Amino acid sequence: MEKMKVETKNSGETKELGKLLSPFLSPGDLLILRGPLGAGKTTFTQGLGEGLKAERPIISPTFTLAREVKIQFKDGKKGLLIHVDAWRLKARGGDIFEEFEALGIEDDFEGNNALVVAEWGDKIAEPLSDRILYVDFERNMERENLRSVSFTSKGFKGLEGFEKSVEAVFGSFVS
Ligand SMILES: Nc1ncnc2c1ncn2[C@@H]1O[C@H](COP(=O)(O)OP(=O)(O)OP(=O)(O)O)[C@@H](O)[C@H]1O
Ligand SMILES: [Mg+2]
Repeated sequence: MEKMKVETKNSGETKELGKLLSPFLSPGDLLILRGPLGAGKTTFTQGLGEGLKAERPIISPTFTLAREVKIQFKDGKKGLLIHVDAWRLKARGGDIFEEFEALGIEDDFEGNNALVVAEWGDKIAEPLSDRILYVDFERNMERENLRSVSFTSKGFKGLEGFEKSVEAVFGSFVS
């Protein structure tokens, strides 16, 4: 299975989805969250933070480009969640690759049992890892709180286990 799609009816469900994914994450993984403003990327990351026992709550890093929070992986190993929001980088223009590099994320990623979760940074974040899980958020024109969330793996392991727990909690999912 390489792709799955889930529909969430409110922000609590999107958070829950992040929480359900958390046991399948390991150091070196890169999650690339894509979708329009207000789609639920940060909400989803908050669920990841809960599942990974983040020492501080996840908040939107919009003004800082990246925030690092100490976490604990499922096997008990301590690590770091590096939450990147490249929206301002993009909005500012200039050489986003160079600015991204200057943040030093690559070094933090390598040295710290880290997991990177990137909002708005697909192209600049991609070189960081060859274990990528793309999470695409779509809004619905008619139903304000409905989101469809699709997961696509590129070298990411663990999607099958995740699929099973999603099925157990959400009952069923699309495709
Ligand atoms: N099903 C849903 N899933 C997630 N959020 C929802 C849902 N329904 C409504 N919402 C609301 O949509 C908003 C999602 O905001 P969030 O900050 O998570 O989006 P984002 O994708 O990170 O946006 P940005 O690109 O600005 O960072 C919240 O206000 C949340 O309460
Ligand atoms: Mg956000």
